[in-house]
Amino acid sequence: MTSQTITAAASGTWKLGDRTVHRIGFGAMRLPQHGEALVPGAVPRDRDQAIKVLRRAVELGVNHIDTAAFYFSPLRCANELISRALAPYPDDLVIATKVGPGRDPSGNWLPHATPEQLRGQVEENLRQLGRDHLDVVNLRIVGADSIAERFGALAELRDAGLIRHLGLSNVRLHHLAEAQAIAPVVCVQNMYGIGASPEQEEFLRICGEQRVAFVPFYSIAGSGRTAGASTGDSGEVLAIARAHGVSTAQVRLAWTLHRGPHVLAIPGTGDPGHLAQNVAAGALRLSEDELTVLDSIRHETA
Ligand SMILES: NC(=O)c1ccc[n+]([C@@H]2O[C@H](COP(=O)([O-])OP(=O)(O)OC[C@H]3O[C@@H](n4cnc5c(N)ncnc54)[C@H](OP(=O)(O)O)[C@@H]3O)[C@@H](O)[C@H]2O)c1
Repeated sequence: MTSQTITAAASGTWKLGDRTVHRIGFGAMRLPQHGEALVPGAVPRDRDQAIKVLRRAVELGVNHIDTAAFYFSPLRCANELISRALAPYPDDLVIATKVGPGRDPSGNWLPHATPEQLRGQVEENLRQLGRDHLDVVNLRIVGADSIAERFGALAELRDAGLIRHLGLSNVRLHHLAEAQAIAPVVCVQNMYGIGASPEQEEFLRICGEQRVAFVPFYSIAGSGRTAGASTGDSGEVLAIARAHGVSTAQVRLAWTLHRGPHVLAIPGTGDPGHLAQNVAAGALRLSEDELTVLDSIRHETA
């Protein structure tokens, strides 16, 4: 079976609230530009190319797409590309977005949204995606401060029918309990990949116990973060990739999926070949010995 014929169904499914998704999804952050994401003056990606990648992802069975209104370059915006490529949306497609951060029209970061400003960010996503409600909204934060007021504001929008499910992003463990006292949390989207710290592992494990989806970002990019994937794969990752005849990116993704049935991958790419590889990673089964080797790699992404 070649990468081209493996679909996202091979990765299995998970229920995000009342919505069933394949465990291999797609992150839209790479689509608006070439090169580094989230920087002013980034080089816009060709619109047709971005649209082709999105449509191919859905053809390959991807039904969980991560986005944000702040994913844009001077000429492209991830939400607009998603709307152009995929509307009218397939019934099974779950689009998850995130609020909290914001960028001005030139792409410079703004202070994070206050509880009062979150409604405007939710409405911005609704407008750009052309929807009447958002499937999943993650509150994306920085720091350790209380999220009660901000999450409470989103819970009110959920009660009002603008949001179906709520999640959290870039949070610490205490934030999960704080949010759950206010409204159900269906997912936690945090940085995670090979070399994760014991704290990151603990968070992933607790999410599994509580049936909360854990959605890692930068599982391929690692310490390259917004700049993208680096070439710095460790010897262990390279050896396992060679043994399976796959890329190191596929090993990285497959390893995250082996961490538990509640882990949902959202690899980002603007490259159709990489997209097919990433979807095919859902069919890659690593042996116990290989998992032990990969589990023991430390500080690659921490
Ligand atoms: N909540 C948050 O704070 C947060 C933060 C960052 C990202 N996210 C979300 O998480 C998603 C995933 O993060 P990401 O897109 O930065 O990182 P990623 O999926 O870990 O890696 C993307 C990088 O790896 C490259 N790549 C992808 N597939 C590849 C393959 N098969 N072989 C070789 N290189 C490959 C991409 O370049 P090419 O385009 O050349 O393939 C890009 O440079 C984002 O798209 C976004 O939706 C959330």
